[in-house]
Amino acid sequence: MTKQLLLGQVLSFDGNPFETEWASVARHIRHGGVLVEGGVIRAVGEAGDLRAAHPDARVTDYGAALISAGFIDTHMHYPQTGIIASWGKRLIDWLNTYTFPEESRFADPAYAAQMAEQTLDLAVAHGTTTLVSYGTIHPASVDAFFTAAARRQMRVVAGKTCMDRLETTPDFLRDTAQSAYDDSKALLDKWHGTGRALYAITPRFSPTSTEAQLRALGDLWRERPEALMQTHLSEQVDEVEWVKGLYPQSRDYLDTYEAFGLLGEGAIYGHAIHLTAREIARMAEVGAGLAHCPTSNTVLGSGLFDMPALAAQMRVGIATDTAGGNSFSMLRVMAATYEIAQLRGTALHPAQLMWLATEGGARILRQEGRIGHLGVGAEADLTVLDLSSTPAIAQRAARAGDFWEALFPTLLMGDDRAITAVWVNGQLQPQPSA
Ligand code: GUN
Ligand code: ZN
Repeated sequence: MTKQLLLGQVLSFDGNPFETEWASVARHIRHGGVLVEGGVIRAVGEAGDLRAAHPDARVTDYGAALISAGFIDTHMHYPQTGIIASWGKRLIDWLNTYTFPEESRFADPAYAAQMAEQTLDLAVAHGTTTLVSYGTIHPASVDAFFTAAARRQMRVVAGKTCMDRLETTPDFLRDTAQSAYDDSKALLDKWHGTGRALYAITPRFSPTSTEAQLRALGDLWRERPEALMQTHLSEQVDEVEWVKGLYPQSRDYLDTYEAFGLLGEGAIYGHAIHLTAREIARMAEVGAGLAHCPTSNTVLGSGLFDMPALAAQMRVGIATDTAGGNSFSMLRVMAATYEIAQLRGTALHPAQLMWLATEGGARILRQEGRIGHLGVGAEADLTVLDLSSTPAIAQRAARAGDFWEALFPTLLMGDDRAITAVWVNGQLQPQPSA
């Protein structure tokens, strides 16, 4: 097996910078190296030591660029790539005007395959190595996504979006409680653990499901607890009110999932902005995860997620929410995470932002130590960042007094131009043609 030695600056974590002082868990090596063999990280350390210990390794020297664990986008909708940056609507009108008509096109497996390929190319070009995506109601949309990911050896998470409520879903985009259960189960059994694929049971959100459908999907999760579960929670105030009307017997929005078995470790709730104290305490208690989607939350006018409070007490990752969000870049998502935390009165440290984009994401997927982690035994998904990728960034980075000051301009101002290289499962990915 070929040994690959990647040299550059190296950033890794051996703890959670929201639970412990960031300086005690973030490890930066100025002249570092990462040894990769058989798709796995075998060693991380000083470049000189690794060179001496592994003279047979093939060396790629990235100079002053930063080698990081690959980015994990914990909530996105690959079927919405084609409608990114659609103007002028808030959530419910945006879904009806732009999203549902586009998702209906995924009845055509050839279109689904084309959009899956395009989305994964865009994600990798932006430094993302794991995506957690919704499909559409069409089972073939999930096959298309996992097939395209398998070709790239990517560890991805996806599931068939389930929506069956008569009064809230269009005729052209509706399944049933039974078909949602049957199709989800068949896809889960086909894909979960096949290669690097992981399946997430995926009710879109409680407004578009009947109680019968939520119950059926809760039953499926009880039968297949190894799978993940993803849905949306408390994204907009109007939506929370809508849920109250549709589920009058529920204590709160979370209860519409909890009552049917759709709460637990491995649950990933997208957005989760307008939460009650009970909801926060309950999700923290069971180890559920939140996917913070800051670019989407501003574009759709949803609200300000409380990262400083929530990350201290529960599992949180960050996400593009393509195509509510207006970027494929997790750098852009880190910038928006920082900006929204500032509006909440807290300046997140660059170490905390990088942790959220890597280790934090892995943790909500129950994949900590396996992905999003630059450490021995982890899968070799790596993103190499140019910290001087544009003239504006370069002139600021040149004045930096330390590594974190040199990194922060890329987190606040960077995009796909900052991505020097991406390694997936120990394989260098082809650079996108300019
Ligand atoms: N809530 C239910 N479906 C969606 C979706 O597709 N995007 C966003 N942002 N929120 C949702
Ligand atoms: Zn979403």
